[in-house]
Amino acid sequence: MTTPPSVLLGVAGGIAAYKSAELLRRLTETGHSVRVLPTASALEFVGAATFEALSGHPVHTGVFADVPSVPHVKLGQQADLVVVAPATADLMARAAHGRADDLLTAALLTARCPVLFAPAMHTEMWEHPATRANVALLRERGVVVLEPASGRLTGRDTGPGRLPDPAEIAELARLLLERPDALPRDLAGRRVVVSAGGTREALDPVRFLGNRSSGRQGYALARVAAQRGAHVTLVAAHTADLAAPASVDVVRAGSALELREAVLAAVKGADAVVMAAAVADFRPVALAEHKIKKGSADPDPLALTTNPDILAELVREREPGQLVVGFAAETGDASGDVLHHARAKLARKGCDLLVVNAVGEGKAFETPDNAGWLLGADGSESVLAPGSKALLASRVWDAVAPRLS
Ligand code: C5P
Repeated sequence: MTTPPSVLLGVAGGIAAYKSAELLRRLTETGHSVRVLPTASALEFVGAATFEALSGHPVHTGVFADVPSVPHVKLGQQADLVVVAPATADLMARAAHGRADDLLTAALLTARCPVLFAPAMHTEMWEHPATRANVALLRERGVVVLEPASGRLTGRDTGPGRLPDPAEIAELARLLLERPDALPRDLAGRRVVVSAGGTREALDPVRFLGNRSSGRQGYALARVAAQRGAHVTLVAAHTADLAAPASVDVVRAGSALELREAVLAAVKGADAVVMAAAVADFRPVALAEHKIKKGSADPDPLALTTNPDILAELVREREPGQLVVGFAAETGDASGDVLHHARAKLARKGCDLLVVNAVGEGKAFETPDNAGWLLGADGSESVLAPGSKALLASRVWDAVAPRLS
C-alpha cells in the first residue's frame, strides 16, 4: 500500500476561511492525509473543532504547543504539498518576508515541497502595490499564487479577489502533486481561447441530439492557462456541473452554430485556440416548432444536415502567428491504429497540434483522468501519460507556449 500524499492546509484569517472546510473535505475524500494549520485569526471565523473533525488531527496555531515534537519544523519538512486557502494579504506579506511568527509561517519556511496560495481579499487589497510586490516576490521564488476569481465579495462589492472555487483549488493541488512545475507563468500577456463541452442540436422544443462530453478537459485547459498567466476566453457548450474557472471569461454556446459564432468572435487577436469541445457533426435539417408526435414520420424528424467544421475554418481563417490546436477521439480499426488515423486527421484539418485520445471503456469521456498523444504538424509526437485532465492540459500548454510568436 502506498502512503497517501501528505498535505498541509494553511488557513488565514479572512471570511473565505469558511470555504476551507469544503476544500479540506475534498482533499481528504480524494485520499490525501491533511493537517490543518489555521492562523489565530482564521479561528475567529471557523472553529478548531471543524478542522479537527474533518482532518482527524489536532490543530494548533502557535509554535509553543506540543513543543517536544517540534511541529514548526517537522510539519513543513514532511509535507508533499502546502496549500494556503484563503491566503490573505497579511499572510502573503508575512510569507514574502520570511516571517515565522506563527506555526503556519514557520512551516512555510521549512517546507521544500510545492506551495500553492489561493488568495482571497478585497479588490483594493489585491491590487495594492504592496500586495502586487509580495505576490511577485513569492512567484519569483516558485510559490504558485493563484489568480483569484472575480465576483461578489463580502458585502455588496464585486471584483477580483474571490477565493477560487474549492473544487478548482483541489484540482490544482492534485496537479502540483502530479507535477510540481505544472504552473509556470509562461503564458503571461497571451490571449487564448478554449472551447469545451458537447453541443446540443435541437430537434423540437424538448429534444436534442447530444453527446457524452462533460467539458472537464476543456475546463482544465482553461484553468491551467489562466493560472499560467493567460487571458482566457472559455466558450462552453453543454457541460457537467463544473466549477467556473477563476479569472476566465466564460461564454455560453448551445449548438454547433452558436459555438462557431462565439469561437470566431473570441479568436480575434488571440495567440492560440484549443478546440476541446465535442461539436456535433450533424444537426436536424429542420427544428420542429411543436413537439414531434409519436409515430410522426413525415417529414422524417431525424433528417440531418452537416455542421460546419469549426476547427478547419479556424485553420483557414487564422491570423498570422495564431496557433490552432485540435482534439481527436480515435479508435483503431482494420485500416490502421489510433495514431495512424490521428496523423491523417492532423494533415486533413491542418492544425498545428492535435491531442489524441484513445476512446473505449472508461477512457476520455466523463472521467476525471485522461491520457493519449500529442502530435505536431512539424512531425513531433509525445505520449501524454495517464493522469488528471489538468496534467494533460499542462502538457498541452507546454507545447503551445514555445510555439507562440
Ligand atoms: O473530425 P473530428 O470531429 O474527429 O475532429 C475533432 C476536432 O474537430 C475537435 O477539435 C473538435 O472540437 C473539432 N470539430 C469542429 N467542428 C466540427 C466537428 C469537430 O471544430 N463540426
